[in-house]
Amino acid sequence: MPGFEIFGDEERREVQDVLDSGVLMRYGFDGARNGHWKALTLEQELAERLGSRHAHLCSSGTAAVATALAACGVGAGDEVIVAPFTFVADIEMILMAGAVPVFADIDETLCLNPDAVAAAITDKTKAVLVVHMCGAMARIDALAALCDERGVVLIEDAAQALGGQYKGKALGTFGKAGCFSFDYVKTITCGEGGAIITDDDAVYEVMQAYTDHGHDHVGSDRGAEGHPHIGTNHRISELHAAVGVAQLRKLDRMLELQRSNKAFIKNGLTGLNRVSFRDLPDPEGDSATFLSFFMPTEEEARQAAKDLAAAGVDGCFYWYDNNWHYHRRWDHLKNIKSPGALAPGKLGYGEDWADRGDLTKSDAVMGRTVCMLIKLSWDESALSERLEKMKSVLG
Ligand SMILES: Cc1ncc(COP(=O)(O)O)c(C=O)c1O
Repeated sequence: MPGFEIFGDEERREVQDVLDSGVLMRYGFDGARNGHWKALTLEQELAERLGSRHAHLCSSGTAAVATALAACGVGAGDEVIVAPFTFVADIEMILMAGAVPVFADIDETLCLNPDAVAAAITDKTKAVLVVHMCGAMARIDALAALCDERGVVLIEDAAQALGGQYKGKALGTFGKAGCFSFDYVKTITCGEGGAIITDDDAVYEVMQAYTDHGHDHVGSDRGAEGHPHIGTNHRISELHAAVGVAQLRKLDRMLELQRSNKAFIKNGLTGLNRVSFRDLPDPEGDSATFLSFFMPTEEEARQAAKDLAAAGVDGCFYWYDNNWHYHRRWDHLKNIKSPGALAPGKLGYGEDWADRGDLTKSDAVMGRTVCMLIKLSWDESALSERLEKMKSVLG
């Protein structure tokens, strides 16, 4: 997810505007800012790009998830269904809300399986937090229909899937709120940053106040602003937003490059006996940040990741053995290492709440999965060389 690969004068100019004005705060200082409103500009352009009524920036993707949960009314004692293949930020933010993460299995989309979600819903379930992992979509139509039917809020974490779509509609726009990350390795980057989108005016009002200590942002005197509810500081700075303005304007070109680079490798591997590919509910809508493929067995996948690295094919992740994105190796979570008590323990969920449930179906998928990141900077010879090496390892 390589926004940083294409930094240029555009990013420099946007940042220079902010440095020249001296106004690093996204709100206020109207006179001093020489007409530059970088956060506001990025919000307007992001909302338009994604076809969402509102977009609100915040300081990270993690902050975006926290804000979406708060704005959708998730609070003390609520259960939130989430996948075991995600980034741990989702689980952390559910816990910080005083809520309880409930894991449900993924399927070969590498995202939540709607049947597993249906089975996990209880009368305490407030929300389903679906994560569109590694650039592509969950079975989002089935999940949205299920949440509607069961009266549960759907929140999308599209931190890794900016620019992805399902049947022409942007990922992040199917639920009540959608979350994005613009951290240092995402499709577009601000260094650190994130965004929440929604079509719901009331949810938006909560988001924009929640990320700034509950300020209602009415009028031009910050000290006189009202506080409709409590919040915190999840604000983005103008410097970070400025980088994002330039990056978002390059998104279509990035997607085009990612898609053609991915197609070249995927087409070249198609037909190899031992390789099959991630299930994509809408292949056209894949943002193509990763090529995710399956080997027939766990042993073969583990070995393939090692052999690819040894052959010089970089960026091939075997998440099953990696501490980063999969529940299996989150020992700090499973052993409930926390500086203070967490809600599930206090609510009587038992000592094993973080490692509860049967995730053998997720293990069976993740054990066989290798994900290779797609770079923008590969030229024709780099692509051909990579493909040949991959064929010799995987063939
Ligand atoms: C799926 C997912 N959600 C949330 C986040 C958190 O984003 P950030 O690093 O901007 O806090 C990430 C970051 O890797 C992610 O991959």
